[in-house]
Amino acid sequence: MNEESVCLRSAYADEAKDRVRVVKTENSVCAKKVVDRICAVKTEDCVCAKKVVDRSCEVKTEGSVCVKAAGSRTCAEPAGANRKGIRMSEQFISDNIRYIGCDDKDIDLFESQYVVPNGVSYNSYLILDDKIAIMDTVDRRRSDEWKNNLTAALDGRKPDYLVISHLEPDHAGTIGQVLELYPEITVVCSVKAAQLLPEYYDPAGHPMITVKEGETLSLGAHTLQFFMAPMVHWPEVMVTYEQKEKVLFSADGFGKFGTLDTEEDWISEARRYYINIVGKYGAQVQKLLAKAATLDIRMICPLHGPVLKDDLGYYIGKYDTWSSYRPEDRGVVVAYASIHGNTAGAAKYLAEKLTQFGEEHVELMDICRCDMATAVENAFRYDRMVLAASSYDAGVFLPMEDFLIHLRHKTYRNRKVALVENGTWAPAAKKTMTGYLKAMKGIEIVEPSLTIQGAVKAADYKVLDEIAKAVHEA
Ligand code: FEO
Repeated sequence: MNEESVCLRSAYADEAKDRVRVVKTENSVCAKKVVDRICAVKTEDCVCAKKVVDRSCEVKTEGSVCVKAAGSRTCAEPAGANRKGIRMSEQFISDNIRYIGCDDKDIDLFESQYVVPNGVSYNSYLILDDKIAIMDTVDRRRSDEWKNNLTAALDGRKPDYLVISHLEPDHAGTIGQVLELYPEITVVCSVKAAQLLPEYYDPAGHPMITVKEGETLSLGAHTLQFFMAPMVHWPEVMVTYEQKEKVLFSADGFGKFGTLDTEEDWISEARRYYINIVGKYGAQVQKLLAKAATLDIRMICPLHGPVLKDDLGYYIGKYDTWSSYRPEDRGVVVAYASIHGNTAGAAKYLAEKLTQFGEEHVELMDICRCDMATAVENAFRYDRMVLAASSYDAGVFLPMEDFLIHLRHKTYRNRKVALVENGTWAPAAKKTMTGYLKAMKGIEIVEPSLTIQGAVKAADYKVLDEIAKAVHEA
């Protein structure tokens, strides 16, 4: 055992005894390496913070390279991955295709489950030609603002068509008001949407066109062509390709969390959005990508997030990776659910060992406290994962079980996973975690695993070293 290892082990053991206490051993190598946001350790010139970041904490080392490199929400992505957020003023599409959507910065939870620190946008568009088409509406939370946008863009004219790509209320929340305001407007939607529409609104008396795969609708110089996209993300979804200006109205596809005036890269919040909202439907997204590949697309107008105008291959490539369940980056998620801190100490030790092996991306996640959607996002992003959890009620500690249930729902697959359990008198976490993982496709369990009983002992650290090596080499 070298000096650094001794130091590391004692630091984690100390922390396990008292999780609130700030670990500060400034002369030791380990203090430079330990970043635990729960403990609010700040080691501004540290080396280790470059590699290990636990998102549940609030460490701020702004001058440090490490926070930037560790993949937190504010971090730089790998080279070539940066795509700046696009401001509202850049939502200009063309003279005849106008953005009329709205930002929502007040929402607490999107879909009542996803934290959106930078809000979300509900996108809607207007195509002006001999005929005028509204492309989706917005959440009713922003209906007044949206109607003002619509009225301004119409400039005294009346809309002829309301194209419904998706009936989920974050886009369809204002349909009722449109039907009331414009009784003669023709609703254009898929056959499935026509079936589902009465569950929200009474379309009786309104003209309706149900469109099928590849059918077109002329507005004058502009022609809309419709392609069905069932389960991306509801069964009635369709996308619309405008042939003249070569614009794809992509429904939920290529969307992201965050309002349009948010300065952030597209990738991180687009990934969290995709994996958690559409991630289960990879096969359906693949089918849609195959259809998109036959079109000459110059611009993508999603229902959330910025209009995408440049380097569209980048965004389409990301969707291809995500929907085919391929890891996006080489890296390790170390996810832990610890009751009294011993399992947490083992997980942090393991994460640090992985960085010592040269792993560039190690995401240490306290499943009891972090954003679940971010944990799921990271699990999909990287090729390997370590799960460390306490035993509980003859099974696994419930926050870890919740994480596994989320992964199962999103059809997590094709990854390598190592296991650490803790259980003082009847360890059962590993068996439960293994049960979940074995029911998933293409999961390889990396050996060895470790059973800790209570505090982490010298023999346990030895096995943690072996696990770190095996995961690094997997
Ligand atoms: Fe943005 Fe599936 O609604």
